[in-house]
Amino acid sequence: MSEQERHDTRLDRFVDSYSQRTNGMRVSAVRALFAVANRPEIVSLAGGMPNIADLPLHGIAQSIAAMIEHNGAQVMQYGSGQGELGLREQILEVVALEGITAHPDDIVITAGSQQGLDLVTRIFCDPGDVILAESPSYVGAIGTFLSYQTEVVHIPGDDGGIDPVALLETTRRLRAEGKRVKFLYTIPNYNNPSGTTQSMERRREVLSVCESQGVIVVEDNPYGLLSLDADPIPAMRSIDPNVIYLGSFSKTFAPGFRVGWTLAPHGVREKLVLAQESATLCPPVFSQFAISTYLSTQDWQGQIGVFKDMYRQRRDAMLTGLEEHMPEGSTWTHPAGGFFVWATLPEGVDSQAMLPRAVDARVAYVPGPAFYADGDGARNVRLSYCFPTPERIRVGVQRFADVIRNELEVMSTFGIRVSPTRLRRAPGPSPDLT
Ligand SMILES: Cc1ncc(COP(=O)(O)O)c(C=O)c1O
Repeated sequence: MSEQERHDTRLDRFVDSYSQRTNGMRVSAVRALFAVANRPEIVSLAGGMPNIADLPLHGIAQSIAAMIEHNGAQVMQYGSGQGELGLREQILEVVALEGITAHPDDIVITAGSQQGLDLVTRIFCDPGDVILAESPSYVGAIGTFLSYQTEVVHIPGDDGGIDPVALLETTRRLRAEGKRVKFLYTIPNYNNPSGTTQSMERRREVLSVCESQGVIVVEDNPYGLLSLDADPIPAMRSIDPNVIYLGSFSKTFAPGFRVGWTLAPHGVREKLVLAQESATLCPPVFSQFAISTYLSTQDWQGQIGVFKDMYRQRRDAMLTGLEEHMPEGSTWTHPAGGFFVWATLPEGVDSQAMLPRAVDARVAYVPGPAFYADGDGARNVRLSYCFPTPERIRVGVQRFADVIRNELEVMSTFGIRVSPTRLRRAPGPSPDLT
């Protein structure tokens, strides 16, 4: 704690006054461990922070200074609830790289795509509504969905993403049970946490099931342009203009500006603007102009290339390390982009129970259950390669593999079988929300 002393009490006198909604907002049980995991001696394969050290800070500083000097009165003023027109036009150039054609009027600027998730849930969902999601899915989205008292149902899938047959069967079953299925939330490119990508064919199948069942598709695509092996696959929104598409500058530029966008059909867009106005009046104007300036004065596509080279090295370091060190019985995904590898541990090893031992061995990861609303994922972990250097990643993976080996040894010595518990965990955001 800082030098300042706290004089208030930890007892919450408002405990009986909170809305029922706050029941969905629970703190993860691993928060305490993460405070420890940020110590420098620990290799953290847990966080999903982009590594923005390679940004041309000098050029950015100069162009933002010029922006303030020449246009300060406008960039520090309130703005439009939908977001600045100039930036919306520039976003069209960004999404064109994924095959999307749209109109600036289709875009609502948000405070990161995280706010897009919040606004979309707010305008579509009533308590008890069902949101379908990949298995596993982004922890920050699950937290938002649960905070609106929705039910999140995971659809089984494989290395190619959502299984369209399971999607159809689950939707029909839920409807037969009288449930209101509102939308499918999907991250088709380099999924957080699984690292998997849906093929073009799979995208078409998923869209066709959703179309036939009247299920809205919400496509979340913050990593799409960070393809590490081949050109990005066109977005689902490029196939079907009814898809609600969430984009972000957090991974291709910098997350601190908190600028993302939602691309939606006309009627939805109108509701989103109303929701945005009631949430924030307008998205942050200064940040929007700063991003706009970056896009028009810097080589942003070249910078994405620099990021890709850097993440490719880190991904390769992680995959090589896993190949060399992981014990038999483990498997992991081979992401073609993005930040994450999803590993499955040998049978009987519980990722949540193992975490304190891993931190003790100076390596951290995020246990699988964080990425499920239903407590699944006990044998899984998310490993991030985005932030540590390749050398640190190699060290971290070796430590991680040694910890698993120790678990297996203890299990075989004492005949303990730590069966993967399907704990009803407290769902909701974990300390590392990304
Ligand atoms: C899949 C996914 N969606 C949305 C977000 C939120 O990103 P932001 O609000 O910074 O745009 C993240 C952040 O890690 C993410 O991984």
